[in-house]
Parts: sequence; structure tokens; C-alpha cells
Amino acid sequence: MEKKIYIETYGCQMNFSDSEIVASIMTENNYSATRDAEDADIIFINTCSIRDNAEQKVLNRLKQLQVLRKQKPNLVLGVLGCMAERLKTELLEEAATGSRVDMVVGPDAYRDLPQLLLDVESGHKAVNVILSTEETYADITPVRYASNGVSAFISIMRGCENFCTYCVVPYTRGKERSRNMKSILSEAHDLFERGFREITLLGQNVNSYQYEDEKSGKTITFPELLEAVAAIDLSLRVRFATSHPKDMSDELLQVIARNENICNSIHLPVQSGSSAVLKKMNRKYTREGYLERIAAIKSIIPDAAISTDIIAGFCSETEDDHKQTISLMEDVGFDFAYMFKYSERPGTIAEKKFDDDVPEDVKSRRLQEIIQLQNKLSLRSNRADIGKIFEVLVEGKSRKSEKMVSGRNSQNKMVVFPDKGYKPGDYVIVKIRDCTSATLKGEAV
Ligand code: SAH
Ligand code: SF4
Ligand code: F3S
Repeated sequence: MEKKIYIETYGCQMNFSDSEIVASIMTENNYSATRDAEDADIIFINTCSIRDNAEQKVLNRLKQLQVLRKQKPNLVLGVLGCMAERLKTELLEEAATGSRVDMVVGPDAYRDLPQLLLDVESGHKAVNVILSTEETYADITPVRYASNGVSAFISIMRGCENFCTYCVVPYTRGKERSRNMKSILSEAHDLFERGFREITLLGQNVNSYQYEDEKSGKTITFPELLEAVAAIDLSLRVRFATSHPKDMSDELLQVIARNENICNSIHLPVQSGSSAVLKKMNRKYTREGYLERIAAIKSIIPDAAISTDIIAGFCSETEDDHKQTISLMEDVGFDFAYMFKYSERPGTIAEKKFDDDVPEDVKSRRLQEIIQLQNKLSLRSNRADIGKIFEVLVEGKSRKSEKMVSGRNSQNKMVVFPDKGYKPGDYVIVKIRDCTSATLKGEAV
């Protein structure tokens, strides 16, 4: 009988995308996927190390799963992803984690999973945390096991070598490498044929994509790749995440502007509004440099929505630095933001060289001020859309009401409107009548 595997994913979109690759590798090797942990013979937890609370969440979940282990003595429990890479065999020490784990597999070792499972079955603990300089899983067709059938992620590059001083990703994901363009295009094509209407190209620094074509010797850049994906069909929407400000070129902005189906939403993490803090973070741009890129976005793509990531309370951040973050947020008028308290990560440059010296209560207060301001900015941005008309790609029923459907506009804003028998994947022209800070509400016109 086929063994059943259950995958639970934490962390960023890359991790969700990786879980689809894991599902593909496993189903190719005669395992079947289940969406019920209790029903599984094998449980994989795909983990995130980005902040301490992300790791704590996983450690708690592993403890919870020990109950299931008692009921099912043959259950195999594997830790995948960034925590596997960061903590390695430490995760196998029951005394340290409070949980029994059978396998630890890093993000570049998923092809080895079937063999590692055989090792576990023969009574050994299994570990592979070797990082690769080449692995992109280019030839593996992800199994879209949790998909809405409309939007899908395609990983186009892996790793990061920017070494922002606070960040664990270069250590858990390894060297930057880009995937063969042909395999990306054929995956996008295939998704479109199967009815998908929105593709998000993924990478930790998606806009530094660079692939040298073996035959022609020509180097393909991110703007070229983006335009090639958009050329598949006008009714296929294309998005991408996450961009680094240093690679946000005018050429890229022009490609977005001239292709109707490349969405007008740009996620451009700023992290801080203070040049001194940015320098300490090794972000490779200044406040002025970032604002110059924002001005370029606004002039080349006037209706672009701009979102960001912000860290409050990085090492030695002063009240004045914090005020500069607040004023930058106001200057840009971000439509949306992910906001975090700085969390020191073992092994990073910041952990080795700087003091994590902003007191917890000050970090919390600064984060609260940032969140409050962003709520205001998001509401302002949504209010400005009242009366406007957008093309919305229907994703499904609204979560709140059976009579409503929801989908996104090009700016990546969630739009809710009355259902007139729409199907996921339909494009509907909607006029906005009302909003909250999170959602636009309208009706089809
Ligand atoms: N590659 C992307 C983002 C990666 S992680 C980029 O460069 O923008 C997503 C976000 O988590 C980061 O943008 C940052 O805001 C946040 N983050 C990363 N490390 C963190 C840490 N140690 N503490 C708090 N937030 C962190
Ligand atoms: Fe982390 Fe910086 Fe790389 Fe983003 S660019 S993944 S924040 S090191
Ligand atoms: Fe987390 Fe790893 Fe993504 S640390 S944010 S899962 S790359």
C-alpha cells in the first residue's frame, strides 16, 4: 500500500513553493499526499528561521506532534527547510528540543528524500543539509496540492548573497543561482493550459535573476524573463516577489509599464528610513537612493501600488532613526507593509558584531507606531480607490459571505463583490463603492 505523506509549511512563499516540489518528488516515488496529519504515515514540517518566534512556533508544533507519535509508533517525522539547515543535527537531540524527530533535510537536499526515508525505515536517523551551488529543481513539475486553481508560484532563483547583517537567509539558503529560462517558460505555459491565470515569479532577490543560455552564450536578465512570461498570453497575469531596491532598474519598470498583464504592484522592502541604520544593515542603498527609486516607479508606472517590509528596533536605532522611518513611510505612502520587531539571529553579522541594544519595550512601541501609521496609509490608499474601476481576477467565494466573491486587482488589493455566478479564473470589471483598510468592496459594471 502507498504510504501517505502530509506536509505542513511555515515561512515565506519560497517555502510554500518548495513544499510543492517536495510533494512532486514524493508522489513520483509512490507516496501519496494527504491533507490530514492524523491520516499520514510521514509528516514533513517545512520550517522558517527568519525570526525567533518563527522557530518557536515550529518547536511547539513538533511537541504537539509527539502525541500523534505515541498513537502511531511507525510515524516518521521530518524537519525540512531553513531550520533544518540552521540547526542541523541539533534537531535530532530530543533532550534539546523536547521532541523526537527522525529526519533533518535542508532546502537543497529534497531530491534525496526518498533515499533518506529508506534509511529511516531501516532504523537510522537521516540527515542531509548540504547546500548546493546549482540546484534549482528546474526539471521537477511542482504538485499544486493546496492550490486555488487560479494562481501559482514559480521559483525562478534560489539563495541570497546580499548578507544583510540581520538576516539568516544567506546561511539557510546558500548561494544565489538562477533557473534555466526554458524550464520556467514551459512551467508557466503548462499552468496557463491547465486554467491558471496568475503566476508569481519567486526568488529572495527575484530581480537579480540572471541566466546564461548554454547555446547562445547570451545572458538573460530579469526584465527579459518577465517579458517572455508575459508574452505567453494576455490573459495570464504575472507578478513577482521579492525585489531588492538595488536591482530595481528603469528597464524593469518600463517592462512592467508596457505589458498590460504584468501587474502594477511592486513589493520593495525598505527596512528602515534612516541611512545610518541602512548602512549598518548592509542594505547597499541610502534613504535618498530608495526615495529616488520610488520616484522612478511613480513616474514610469503612475498607478502602481507599492508595498514594503520594515524592521523596528535594529541595533543602535535611535529615536531619530525611528522618526526617519515614520517620515519615509509618509513620504512614500505605502499601500501595504509587513512590519517586524528586530529579532537577533544566531550566526548573522549583526549577532557577531553589534549589540541588540534597543530595549524590548522600545522595540514594541516603535513597531506599534509603525503599524498604526501603516493602517492609516492603507485606509487612505483604499479610500482613494472609491469610484475607480478595476479588472478583478476571481479567486473564489469571499470568506465572509457565500453571496460574494473575492479576487485581486492589478495592484494586488483584495476586492469583494456580489457573486453573479462567476467561476475562479474569470475576469470581472468592478467599480469600487466602499472599503476598509484591508479590502475594497464594489460591484460588477
Ligand atoms: N529577500 C527579501 C526578504 C526576506 S525575509 C528582501 O531582501 O527583502 C522577509 C523580511 O523579514 C525582510 O524583508 C525583513 O523585513 C524581515 N526580517 C529578516 N530578518 C529579520 C530579523 N532578523 N528580524 C526581524 N525581521 C527580519
Ligand atoms: Fe535577507 Fe537581505 Fe537576502 Fe533579503 S536580501 S534574503 S533581507 S540577506
Ligand atoms: Fe523563512 Fe527561510 Fe523563507 S528563513 S522567510 S523560510 S527563506
